[in-house]
Parts: sequence; C-alpha cells; structure tokens
Amino acid sequence: MNIELILKKDIKICALKSKIPKKFISFIQITSKSKIGNYQINGIIKISKLLKINTEELSKKFIYYLQDNNIYKKIKYSAPGFINIFFNEIWLSEEIEKIIYSNSLGIPKEKPKNIIIDYSSPNMAKEMHVGHLRSTILGDVMARTLSFLKHNVIRINHIGDWGFQFGLLIAYLKKKYINQINKKLSLKDLEKYYQKSKKLYENDNTFKIKVTKCILKLQNKNQKYIKLWKKIVKITIKQNKKIYNQLNITLKNKHNIGESFYIKYLSNIILDLKKKKIATKKNGNTIIYLKNIKNKNGQPMGVIIQKKDTSFLYSTIDLACLKYRINKLNANRIIYYTDVRQKQHLKQIEIIAKKAKYIPKNFNLEHHIFGMVLTKNNKPFKTRDGKLIKLSSLINESIKKSKKIIKHKNPNFNKKKISQLSKIIGISAIKYADLSKNREKNYIFNWNNMLSFHGNTALYIQYTYTRIQSIIRKSKFSPLKINKKIILTNNIEIKLSIKILQFEETIQNIKNNGMPHILCLYLFQISSLFSIFYEKYPIIYAKRINIQKSRLKLSFLIARIIKLGLKLLGIKTVNYM
Ligand code: ARG
Repeated sequence: MNIELILKKDIKICALKSKIPKKFISFIQITSKSKIGNYQINGIIKISKLLKINTEELSKKFIYYLQDNNIYKKIKYSAPGFINIFFNEIWLSEEIEKIIYSNSLGIPKEKPKNIIIDYSSPNMAKEMHVGHLRSTILGDVMARTLSFLKHNVIRINHIGDWGFQFGLLIAYLKKKYINQINKKLSLKDLEKYYQKSKKLYENDNTFKIKVTKCILKLQNKNQKYIKLWKKIVKITIKQNKKIYNQLNITLKNKHNIGESFYIKYLSNIILDLKKKKIATKKNGNTIIYLKNIKNKNGQPMGVIIQKKDTSFLYSTIDLACLKYRINKLNANRIIYYTDVRQKQHLKQIEIIAKKAKYIPKNFNLEHHIFGMVLTKNNKPFKTRDGKLIKLSSLINESIKKSKKIIKHKNPNFNKKKISQLSKIIGISAIKYADLSKNREKNYIFNWNNMLSFHGNTALYIQYTYTRIQSIIRKSKFSPLKINKKIILTNNIEIKLSIKILQFEETIQNIKNNGMPHILCLYLFQISSLFSIFYEKYPIIYAKRINIQKSRLKLSFLIARIIKLGLKLLGIKTVNYM
C-alpha cells in the first residue's frame, strides 16, 4: 500500500473540486514531517497568491472536499496556509492488518522488465580494494530490490579481463617463470609481478618488444598464452568470490561477462561506425568527434575507438557491450555502478550508441555514481605505503573489532557463537555505514561510528530486531495465530503504523533512484519509534489481553519489515545479540 500515492490522488481530486486550475496542482506538496498532524499539505499559499484569492478561504474549501474521505479522522487548518491531516486509526489498523501476514508485506509485484545491473566489475590480476566496495554493495542492493519486485534482473560483472595489462603481466611471467608455468600463483604474486612488469616496461626496451609480441599472441589466440591468461583470470575470480561470499553479495561466477567477451564484435563495430560516417581516421587512429561535448581546448571531443597499432580501447568495448545488451539481452533498463570519474566516459558511449542506432533515442542509460571513501583528514583511504586499503583487510579488521564488542557484551557466549555473530556484525557494519550515506557524496570512514549501538547504524537496527524476537519468545501467544485485530490505542502506535505503511514508497524510491540511504533512514526511524514505544508501553505485560495481542502483532510486523528491509540491503539479522 502506497500511502503517498493514495494521498496524492485524493488531493488531486479535491483540488479540482475546489476549482484549483490543473496547472497549479503540482504546487501542492505533502510531507510527513508535520509537527501538528500526521501529514501536512503545503502549497495552498502559493496557489492562492497566483489566483489572487484569500488563502484561508481556499484552504477551507479544499478541506471541505477532503473531509469526505473516511481515511482521515481530522483535518486542521493552520495559519498562514497549512493543512494538517490526522489519519483515522481504524483505517490505519485495517491497512496494516492487510499486510501483516503477506509474503511481500503487501508490496505488489511489478510487470517484469529486463534490467541490467553492471556492478562491482573489478580489473583482473589485482585484489579488490576499498574503491570496489561501493560499486559492489550499491549495485547489489539494486539487484536485490528489483528482484524482490519480480523484475528480470540481469546481474553483470563487467570484469576487466582484457587489454594491455595482460600483455605486460604475461611477458613478465614468461620471462621469470618460463620453466615454472605450472607453479601455484597467488593473487598477491600476480599483483606484485604486475607492478614489477610496469617498471620494467618503462626502462627496458627488449621487454617492451616482448610485451608487444605477447599482446599479438594473445590476440591471435595462441593456445599457450591463452592458457596463461585464463589462469590469471581464474585466480582473480576465485579470490573475489571469497570477498563476495563474505560480503553476502549475490554476484556469482555465471554473472561474469567481462571485457574479453566483446572482442569478437569489435572489428565489425569499427567497420560499421566508419560506414555510417560516424568515425573517421586521424593520424592513424580511428576517432569519433562529438559536437556537443567539448575538450580542454574548446574543440569537439574526440573519442578514439581504435589506435594506430590496431588495438581497441575501453570505450570500444563498452560500445559493443551496449549493443549486445540491447539486441541480445533485450534490456529495458541498464544501470552502471561506477564512480563519478566515469561519468564522461559513459555519456560519450551513450551519445555514440544513439548516433549509431545501437540503442533507441529515448533510452535512458542510468549511471548511479558514487563518491569516495575517505579518512578523517579527508584523504583517500590508503595504507601507510600509499596503496589503497584492500577490501579483505578491511573486512578482517571489522570482524576483529566486532568480536571484541560481542565478547564484552556477552561474556557467556561460547566461542562458536561469538565467531558467527562477529562475522555477521562486522560485515553489516561496513556495509551499512556505506549504504546509509548519500551515494553521490564522499564519506569519512569511521570505525567508532559504524560499530556503535546508538544512532543510524546496523547494530542499532539489528539490536531492535533481536529485542522484538525476545519479546515474541517470551509471549504466551504466537503472533502468527492471533486472530484478534490490531487496535491502535496511542499516538506512538499511530505513528508506527504510518511508518509501516510508508515501507512501500521507500522501496519504490530505491527502484527509481537507487538511493539505499533512504531505506537505511527509514529502518532507523522505525527502530527508533519502536524503542520509544517499548520504553513507554507494556507489550506482553499489558493488562488487557486484547492489547497484549495487538501490541505483539504490531511488534511482529515491525520485525518483519526490519528483516526484509535489511535483507534488501544485503544485511543479515540475528535472533540474539
Ligand atoms: N572495470 C572498470 C573499472 O574498474 C569498471 C567497469 C564498469 N562497467 C562498464 N561497462 N564500463 O573501472
């Protein structure tokens, strides 16, 4: 049930009845941040000024029509022109009653669309670092949410598994490992050799020639070289899989469609773009000039799609990839999770793909950008020797810290319990701290804040959940078997039920804009409201049995919402803490 939608619909009808011209209706806004009522309607002041009529008079007329609906208990005018709505608690209780036992908590299935989510997408031969955290977890929330709404979600891990860096690395491995090609290599080794190979390339001309030969051999599918390339990719994927498992990410190996997959399409793309007179040759390079984007010198931006030496670029691959996603995967929506630095790149791809008619003119390529993770001094999150922090060490550190917290709180828990809990809590803390920030902004990484039982943290919400579970365990009634209806007896319960009914619009919001921090804030608010409720009113100790049952049911529903909300965020709940 979408409470906002219901209100908006009703308001529109009443606005028309009050003779407010259609073109002004969009000025009427609603907010649930009303100090007086449950919701407040704003905008009548502006409209009455435009119509040159008295604000109070227009408001009263509007209220007169609005009153006709039994979802409201009271509608109050407050000067200079606000309208405050109080919901009818019978209506509220009936609405929450409808969703309490529903599997999807009353959120309707949508007409399925093919939605591609391009996320995580790390480059091979490197360990994942803190920079990959956001792309991975933000994308995963979107994938979970859209799957929950029954869309056909196509997860794609566009891994960087092709290009120059493989020439470098393989040339280096050949040089050093020629006799030990079957030796076990770790991802750490690969990363080290890659750094070394880069240095060597700058200083050693014979090595440079080797690299060029190596790239050629790879391009010509020389079996020996391809075998080594496959090995490098496999080692990386295996290691990344561990991180995905730890982070509870729904990406699987079958979702890897990396850059190398599109190589077979690239020559045709170049031919086609030349034929369509979109690409031209300049100084040996094949290039596309974009009139609407200017480069540093104020000239039309040139995007190279094939270099003089016939090699292709990141952009060329993304063009072929986009064409594939539209033609072969029939995408209705495509969402990229990469940081803000790739904004220009994706814009260019979109423009070129539209020119070439690879994607329809009105297709909206979505780029869900995100900011950086910073340290206290507003610096990128790096180790002392200047390298970006590895995701694996961040995770381990968080689990270690959580262990301390849990041991301290529950000295009697056995080792196994502590270890299980600290894994869940450590991972949740990192994820939630990130997801609860507006993704478009940078944020400062802070262990103390994220591992606190207070404030907008995973721990606080998970703890609220365990509190409700403990109430349910203690009650003599099972919330699943109560056939008495919920009765709302006080203001906090009314506030809680309105919050419950706002769950659907919160999920819709993620679906449309991919902003998980709105869901985090929602979960924090419902948890805070529950805490107030719990402090103030007895639940299983309420005197009247009917009230006991009603409050138990309400608490049960709140727990269900928290559990589902956290699940969509990729965060687990526990029954004790
Ligand atoms: N591998 C790229 C990087 O690490 C991200 C790829 C994003 N997806 C895409 N289709 N370009 O920056």
